Amino acid sequence: MTDSGFDSAPIDIDTSVPHSARIYDYLLDGKDNYAADRKAADEITALFPDVRAAAWANREYMQRAARFLAERDVDQYLDIGTGIPTEPNLHQVVQEIVVDARVVYADNDPIVLAHAEALLRGTRQGRTAYVSADVRNPESVLAYAREHLDFRRPIALSLVSVLQFVSDPYDPFQVIRQMLEPLAPGSYLVLSHVTYEFEPEIWERIDAIYQKGPDSMKARSREDFSRFFDGLELCAPGIVVATQWQPDSHMTVRDGRVPLYAAVARKP
Ligand SMILES: C[S@@+](CC[C@H](N)C(=O)[O-])C[C@H]1O[C@@H](n2cnc3c(N)ncnc32)[C@H](O)[C@@H]1O
Repeated sequence: MTDSGFDSAPIDIDTSVPHSARIYDYLLDGKDNYAADRKAADEITALFPDVRAAAWANREYMQRAARFLAERDVDQYLDIGTGIPTEPNLHQVVQEIVVDARVVYADNDPIVLAHAEALLRGTRQGRTAYVSADVRNPESVLAYAREHLDFRRPIALSLVSVLQFVSDPYDPFQVIRQMLEPLAPGSYLVLSHVTYEFEPEIWERIDAIYQKGPDSMKARSREDFSRFFDGLELCAPGIVVATQWQPDSHMTVRDGRVPLYAAVARKP
């Protein structure tokens, strides 16, 4: 790890199999994807034609949630499962409002690491840092975050469209409890998560597409999603489909079939 938090070691990327970060990048019209990712994305699109709109709806939800928190003067962010940079990234949204905001990013895909430098270009006053880490090992993410954030003060913890890649044996509910435990009162949790509830018949086949690579996709119910917020105070409007979370004039996707629940909550 260099001083800037950027690991400059050679990056080993297996391009022969699809990966969630690169499939998502392709759906967002990015250029950091390979034939296996595009094939997987096309197979997902055949099963679920609105997936591209859903990916944009998710990205726009992340931006609205980040703006909401920055407008409440939150100046520390820990964003896990950051993804390949797609502007505006979280630090760009929040540092426009809180110029000295600190943002720590983490992702387990080496291709995101290859782009970490782009994520590290924050404002002069603010700071960003990046670590290549897996949320299924929360202690390693927390240890890195402690080097960059002040845990005595509120932190916004975000995992936007990430926890569906944490399967039940890794107990995502315990992962979130463990991540929230050391955070100060007044901290926030920002989540979105794929749900099977609107079209239950397609998700097993979508999971099979992801399983050709290192990921699996576990779509969950609204009830399951609500468990991530146990003990927290939900911010308005509570748990809703991502496009319905505090809609604003910047949105490009307002309707369509968006199989994603979203919510922001505060730690009392
Ligand atoms: C669908 S993308 C979401 C990107 C971004 N959060 C957003 O909403 O625009 C999912 C991201 O989670 C990352 N990811 C998946 N499993 C992970 C894990 N176990 N630990 C850390 N990151 C993970 C993937 O590499 C990918 O970048």
